[in-house]
Amino acid sequence: MNKEQDMEQVSLVLSQLKQKLPCSHSPYSGVQVAAAVEYEVEGEKRVAYGVNVENVSYGLTVCAERSAISNAIIDGMKSITALYVTSNQEAPISPCGACRQVVTEFMQQADAPVICTNFDDSQQWQSTLSDLLPNRFDLD
Ligand code: THU
Repeated sequence: MNKEQDMEQVSLVLSQLKQKLPCSHSPYSGVQVAAAVEYEVEGEKRVAYGVNVENVSYGLTVCAERSAISNAIIDGMKSITALYVTSNQEAPISPCGACRQVVTEFMQQADAPVICTNFDDSQQWQSTLSDLLPNRFDLD
């Protein structure tokens, strides 16, 4: 993919994510989060989506990133090549510590993009797993 196709893909995924935000189950915080992961299955590029799923027993809440990863797993995902996170908040949300560790399990390229945007995508923040979780625990 060239740079133009990359940018097209980013805006496509971000617009899909915005459509998923209302699916967020967030009656306790009101913070709607949607995440997407990119991966390949049999040479075909695919994207899986997830939203945060809160619970009245707050600690059982599942973040959007882990929800997207679970959806990708059932589609045959073995490795993630990009992660996107957006929300209904003024500023971009970046993955929480627990999600960073779960992403570590599936994101082999430490420089794969992690793209975070705010409610209207007017603020975009890009990072990598190595920046987000340096010296991360892994058995490899
Ligand atoms: N949340 C996510 O979905 N992903 C993150 O990386 C940070 C936090 C959710 C959990 C909770 O439902 C809401 O945001 C407020 O903390």
